Amino acid sequence: MRKIQVAPSILSADFGKLSEEIASIEAYADALHIDVMDGHFVPNLSFGYPVAKWIKSDLPKEVHLMVYHPENYYDVFAKMNPEIILIQVEAVPHLHRQIQKIKELGIKAGVVLNPATPLSSIEYVLEDLDRVLIMSVNPGFGGQKFISGVLQKIKKLREIAPDLDIEVDGGINEETAALCKEAGANIFVAGSYIFGSENRANAIASLKGE
Ligand code: DX5
Ligand code: ZN
Repeated sequence: MRKIQVAPSILSADFGKLSEEIASIEAYADALHIDVMDGHFVPNLSFGYPVAKWIKSDLPKEVHLMVYHPENYYDVFAKMNPEIILIQVEAVPHLHRQIQKIKELGIKAGVVLNPATPLSSIEYVLEDLDRVLIMSVNPGFGGQKFISGVLQKIKKLREIAPDLDIEVDGGINEETAALCKEAGANIFVAGSYIFGSENRANAIASLKGE
């Protein structure tokens, strides 16, 4: 069986004590999810590399670029040695080219689909992808409600791509993670659920169904 992984989104962490926040999840999480927002592609700003470079952790890092022109940022985020860079299909006209650019840096390439974006948008690049992330909220903010319509999309994708890493991001808690797992997802991003919990070990375990 595919390994279930949890990637806490530090967007919901207390940046005033970021190293403590990271330490509280480090032994239990499988990766760190880093949300970069540009105030154009999504109606919110988060942080760029000048802040992200202070995120110190041995966990694999996944950089979720919610930005137009993500190609302007691959080199700079490459300095963090991320395991994977995830770009939004809606933000780029030449998706295949972008995937190749990320891979040329020796970084895995993943694409992200907003809730209303169909699977057909990635049909012809599927074999080039290391991962597909299905957004289960409209990106831009933590703490939103899970959109259950995406479960069908996860299910269809799992049918087409039995071995692909399928990640879900947005409104993930114990209940919605179970639904996504049943639909075929194997990597879960969670921000408010994990960082809003007193016991982060338990929160992460509950997402894995342990
Ligand atoms: C949404 C971000 C998510 C977000 C998840 O724009 O991509 O990663 O931080 O937060 P929760 O788990 O609170 O929905
Ligand atoms: Zn994200």
